[in-house]
Amino acid sequence: MRLPGLIDPHIHLREPGATHKEDWDSGTSAALAGGFTLVLAMPNTKPPIFDAATLDLALAAARSKARCDYAQFVGAGPDNASWGRRTARAANTDGTPVRDGKGLPRGAAGLKMYLDSTFGQLRLDDMTLWMQHFQNWPKDMPIVAHAESRSMAAVILMAAIYDRPVHIAHVSLREEILLIKAAKERGIKVTCEVTPHHLFLTQPPSNPPLNSQNLGEGKGVGGGRWEVRPRLATQVDVDALWQNLDVIDCFATDHAPHTLAEKDGENPPPGFPGLETALPLLLTAVDSGRLTVDDIILRMHTNPRRIFNLPEQPETWIEVDADARYEIRAAEMKSRCGWTPFEGWKVKGRLHKVVLRGKTAFEDGKILVKPGFGINVRG
Ligand code: DOR
Ligand code: ZN
Repeated sequence: MRLPGLIDPHIHLREPGATHKEDWDSGTSAALAGGFTLVLAMPNTKPPIFDAATLDLALAAARSKARCDYAQFVGAGPDNASWGRRTARAANTDGTPVRDGKGLPRGAAGLKMYLDSTFGQLRLDDMTLWMQHFQNWPKDMPIVAHAESRSMAAVILMAAIYDRPVHIAHVSLREEILLIKAAKERGIKVTCEVTPHHLFLTQPPSNPPLNSQNLGEGKGVGGGRWEVRPRLATQVDVDALWQNLDVIDCFATDHAPHTLAEKDGENPPPGFPGLETALPLLLTAVDSGRLTVDDIILRMHTNPRRIFNLPEQPETWIEVDADARYEIRAAEMKSRCGWTPFEGWKVKGRLHKVVLRGKTAFEDGKILVKPGFGINVRG
């Protein structure tokens, strides 16, 4: 079965700053191994990506290492809300001069606003800052909000006030999907994504597969491998997502790799890897009649391309063996993090081949393009 190259509008690579978890090479290899030919990277790296200098830092690493196509988000911070205006701040936080912030928004995938608890330093609490970012970020460039529950209601109100689109990341709750549904019905320009883990897992301790196969003896409920933001929700929430599929514009992995040692250690960071499990999990849902292949294409290619204004990738497609059954194993994955919350899950539907811009980039478990093959689609 042939599908278009998948697009993941929400992944975390850890370069700059934490390449022991993932870098542009391992992360884009994981993307290809998951059927993704284009990924949009989030800005909560170390340092965070929030101006021309830090964007250059991420893009320099991407240019030499990425194996699939990509673009990089910039983060909304307290000091960078005057996007594209000459009167912008005169210096970066470390004192170095801002080179030319002017063209910056156009070189980025979009603006990411962290309005709720997350991993890293980027978080905006002051709503007057939200307003400034909404006013100054170009209307034809995407804004993505990590905004849960009441913060989500507030950010949707801002989209209505400033009459511009906002894309809501990783919707997980019944109240959230119903809010977005109502906002859409009123003509507010809101779109949203849901992750596979919020579709297939519920909060502990009610999820035996994750509990028995991953937490292991002695780790117990509440172990770090459960930690993810937004948190895993209840069965009622999960059911509401499935019942409102038509409200969900995209499936995005929120691939957030942390090593097993970190997940099992003190103060485990939140986040699940997801690039290499999304497609088989969703194809398995097709097999059991919960989804159609067209549902997948719409939410993993057509809609992300439209919402994020991404170019067509010529001569690009993926091939899957829809009948192949296998068990998910972290040991076989390209991600550097070394684990998956879906370890041992039985799936039906395996990625066979990825052709990217005319070149076979992945075939039967092997990456066949070199670091640097990927291009910046905002380049
Ligand atoms: O679980 C999460 N992990 N949620 C976030 O918002 C950030 C992400 C990360 O970067 O690890
Ligand atoms: Zn994320």
